[in-house]
Amino acid sequence: MLALGALGAGRAMAQGRQRRAMAVAAHPVGIDRMLSEVRHWLTELGEPLLLEFLKDWPGGAPLREIHSSPVPVMRYVPMLSALAPDSIAPLVRCIVEQASHFEWRRSYQPPAVSTHFAENYGWTEWLGLKGPIPSEQLAVGLLLLGPDVYYPWHRHEAEELYIPLAGRAAWKHADAPWREQSPGTVIHHKSFERHAMQTKGEPMLALYLWRSTDLNQRSQLDGETDVSS
Ligand SMILES: [Fe+2]
Repeated sequence: MLALGALGAGRAMAQGRQRRAMAVAAHPVGIDRMLSEVRHWLTELGEPLLLEFLKDWPGGAPLREIHSSPVPVMRYVPMLSALAPDSIAPLVRCIVEQASHFEWRRSYQPPAVSTHFAENYGWTEWLGLKGPIPSEQLAVGLLLLGPDVYYPWHRHEAEELYIPLAGRAAWKHADAPWREQSPGTVIHHKSFERHAMQTKGEPMLALYLWRSTDLNQRSQLDGETDVSS
């Protein structure tokens, strides 16, 4: 379970850090404390494969400086807390408070994807080659999709776990049928296994973990364009 008291204390510490951060740093306020809570929460889920991934979580390195950058899908951030179950809501509220500090990115642009997809999709990295916590073999971050978005078939060498945090979506991988997954579910994509997602009437926030000796790789769309636009 997420430590509510710790998050509250984290916010108090964050307010103090924020005043200092404006002058000396560009990394999100209190993200080191928040990610410590995230790691603890993931460990408490107790899923064996997730615990294997967490063995590569680095510790002790100074935070890397990042610069906040918004993406259009962030217009749905204020809705997310209401879409999280009680057990995850404290974490999602913390993310909502800090989302504007993160470096949000998009891997695909039109014409590879539709304009609808590009305006309803974004991700931010917490651990990895670019995120605030330097990491060479484990990348961790957030994916945010708007409502009624089809994330086309894609694949990558990195082995991947997703854990939805807020909102429901349908997920599909390999030859398995579409399946609606609730927040808190651990979803596994094997190396090079193709997968796709579909949101319906609400946005979805999911935490991702990538494991690879080559994190400097791109996800490859499977020759299919966005059919939801
Ligand atoms: Fe993926």
